Amino acid sequence: MKNAVSWVLVLILTITLLNNCLQTKSYKEIRAKQSFVDQLRAAYSSGDQKKWPKPILDPSKPLFSEIGHLPKVEFPSDNPYSEDKVLLGRTLFYDPRLSNSNQIACASCHDPELGWTDNRKFSFGHDRQLGSRNAMTIMNVAFAKSLFWDGRAVTLEDQAKMPIEDMREMHEHIDIATDKIVKVKGYEILFEKAFGNKKITKDKIAKAIATFERTVVSPATKFDRFIDGEKDAFTNDELMGLHLFRTKAQCMNCHNSGYFSNNLFENDGTSLLGSDEEDLGQYLITKRPADAGKFRVPTLREVTKTGPWMHDGSFNTLTEVIQFYSKGNPESSKHRSTIHEGVTLHSEKSDMLKLLELTTEEIHQIEAFLGTLSTPVMRPKPPVLPK
Ligand code: HEC
Ligand code: HEC
Repeated sequence: MKNAVSWVLVLILTITLLNNCLQTKSYKEIRAKQSFVDQLRAAYSSGDQKKWPKPILDPSKPLFSEIGHLPKVEFPSDNPYSEDKVLLGRTLFYDPRLSNSNQIACASCHDPELGWTDNRKFSFGHDRQLGSRNAMTIMNVAFAKSLFWDGRAVTLEDQAKMPIEDMREMHEHIDIATDKIVKVKGYEILFEKAFGNKKITKDKIAKAIATFERTVVSPATKFDRFIDGEKDAFTNDELMGLHLFRTKAQCMNCHNSGYFSNNLFENDGTSLLGSDEEDLGQYLITKRPADAGKFRVPTLREVTKTGPWMHDGSFNTLTEVIQFYSKGNPESSKHRSTIHEGVTLHSEKSDMLKLLELTTEEIHQIEAFLGTLSTPVMRPKPPVLPK
């Protein structure tokens, strides 16, 4: 009996000791993890990018500049900034008289309350016709080096005339649209203030709209405040997401600079060649077979507002977008080639997209970080349209 009691005592002692040992081990792990997080927090919020950990970039040396603040907007010398021109441009942006039906304005599809886009998979325009691409936000568009998903416009001045004439958007001849604005007496004074004389032309309309668009810039985000030294602005998840974005997840190969895009065209394997939803992307403009399936790398500033995501609005949540990248995006072999106008084209997904095998926690952390790049929704009062 005595013997049995001692055995039980020895057993209890061993279990207690083992348990203590294990607890110290996991306690040590937690401490180590915490000190890593603290170090990262100190480095990223130091206000000095030289202290940041080195990014993991593709060996192909992609065009890279570190993420950070947005630079100052530059206005072109042949279309300088003035407050009056912004007011005119803003008024035209909201004016449905630029459309054939007098019902559709730029702001119909680029609505400030919806992140300056329309939150639809595809926009509907004239006669409620559906387009075939997801509307882009015009926020921070001043920093885009070419416009549209396929880069078919180079300047905002050129771009502004295109949706007016697009038959599925505003469906109006630019000269007719201009004549309609000429007939609105109240516009004369606005043009005079903006351009020094009353004459209304299509080029002035485009210049005023472009100037207004260049002023639609995000205010400082949580990310901007954090890297400037507000060290408690980020949660641990947001911080780890930032670190993953620059390292393991390798998003920075393409989404870099203060604009979170290197302004290049890349193939994410999203062109679905040979299917009903096929979109040849940049090839449609350059006609270079190597450009089939390439789209402009979009900015990730304000990205929580621009859903559904991608050129075709095919993702309903950011979690799905990150899961897609985590898989290295295995492009379906069925949708890699097509014959377009007699030319056989293949889609070659970028080598920079690799199997990342992110954990569920890491996916959540990257999503949390993306959230820090958005600012609260604006609800500006629409301008009074002249009569
Ligand atoms: C019917 C909806 C609709 C209307 C109206 C519309 N847009 Fe768009 N906008 C879109 C879509 C869709 C895209 C992307 C199209 C593409 O890439 O092929 C786009 C793209 C843009 C871009 C490119 C942004 C970038 O990052 O490249 C700008 C700038 C823009 N629109 C400005 C305007 C202006 C100015 C007007 C009015 C004159 C206007 N839009 C009217 C739907 C619309
Ligand atoms: C090879 C370059 C490249 C890399 C690396 C890359 N992206 Fe992208 N990203 C793109 C391109 C190109 C698109 C547009 C694709 C399309 O529209 O079909 C895009 C689109 C997106 C969008 C949708 C934006 C919108 O407004 O619709 C999100 C979100 C995004 N990327 C996040 C990420 C994240 C997070 C990572 C890292 C895990 C990453 N990207 C890595 C090139 C890249």
